[in-house]
Amino acid sequence: MRTLLITGGAGFIGSNFVRLILERHPDYHVIVYDKLTYAGNLDNLKDVASRFGDRYVFIQGDICDAEKVGQSLQIHNVDTIVNFAAETHVDRSILDPDAFIQTDVYGTYVLLEAAREMGMERYHQISTDEVYGHVPTGTSKESDPIAPRSPYAASKASADLMVLAYHITYGLPVTITRGANNVGPYQYPEKVVPLFVTNAIDDLPLPLYGDGLQVRDYHYVLDHCDAIDLVLHQGEIGEAYNVGSGSEMKNLDMTRLILGLLSKPESLIQPVKDRPGHDRRYALDISKLRALGWAPAHTCEESITSTVRWYVENEWWWRPIKNGEHYQAYYRAQYAGREAARELAR
Ligand code: NAD
Ligand code: TYD
Repeated sequence: MRTLLITGGAGFIGSNFVRLILERHPDYHVIVYDKLTYAGNLDNLKDVASRFGDRYVFIQGDICDAEKVGQSLQIHNVDTIVNFAAETHVDRSILDPDAFIQTDVYGTYVLLEAAREMGMERYHQISTDEVYGHVPTGTSKESDPIAPRSPYAASKASADLMVLAYHITYGLPVTITRGANNVGPYQYPEKVVPLFVTNAIDDLPLPLYGDGLQVRDYHYVLDHCDAIDLVLHQGEIGEAYNVGSGSEMKNLDMTRLILGLLSKPESLIQPVKDRPGHDRRYALDISKLRALGWAPAHTCEESITSTVRWYVENEWWWRPIKNGEHYQAYYRAQYAGREAARELAR
């Protein structure tokens, strides 16, 4: 039996992971610890309480709150922390980095201290391929230097370094996974794939940054969760593991694929001013994870195809978010004037 504190478990990847763990390990208990920021949503876990009864507990809390973190670990006899909690959107980190430093850096430190003090059996950190920075050719290996370029990536890289430092200095049993761009059910529609799918369903423009030739590995969220489960059980302590599909796609091709799947015209593509410091390409070498016996089940194209289907079938989930005042205010701040700015820059 194992009791996991899953921070950020009400977010996109965290909620998919909670379901996977409870389904796969009938003797495990899961405590979701989540602040419920704009990105946290109890609708993501709607079926979980009824399906899994007292094997699942939800606590609303901030990972920066050391007292509440400590109490939650103690009351529920937690032996494993899996930290998904983070501010996660690059564009928001450009508009306002403050919350990224608080949650992604300081919050990780609070969790590490609690893990050390209470002798956790494992601390697992969910990290990202963005810590390696822009990769013009080839693929990033776990041993490559980290070279983050956005405030989001820098905050995640700082957390990785602190996690590894806690292992080296205090012997804390840590592991890290560095995931590629995830897609799939319950992703907040500020990230490009759900944004473009839901805009296209409503015949709204798809704001494609710059020339659209940036490359990403659009990886299926359940493949990512499967890999995290494997690393939790078979990963080597003190090690980081890259997690991706090993395939890649240009943003323009991803956009055309979405429009084609929805039978929408390419005239919906609206080229807009590029993101500052936009990383042109991420690409991961996943051989270290493959050596543990893992293989991705979906290519980028298959992942995006499944994701489009889910958003078409689950308007109940995303439409209230997009109609909400928070989303609309963000959309205006991020996109209003972007088209005009691009014209001026020509
Ligand atoms: P998300 O934005 O959908 O969810 C983040 C969750 O964390 C939300 O439920 C939010 O309420 C919670 N949270 C935020 N601040 C908190 C705080 N201070 N205390 C407690 N909870 C807090 O994010 P996601 O896309 O599911 O990403 C999860 C993790 O995976 C993050 O650490 C992210 O850096 C990493 N990651 C994401 C991707 C991706 O493509 N989405 C890829 C690789 C790695
Ligand atoms: P995003 O989903 O924000 O993930 P990340 O920046 O973490 O990779 O963006 C994925 C790609 O899509 C990235 O190259 C930026 C691009 N993009 C757009 O072209 N338009 C948009 O409106 C957004 C949000 C992203």
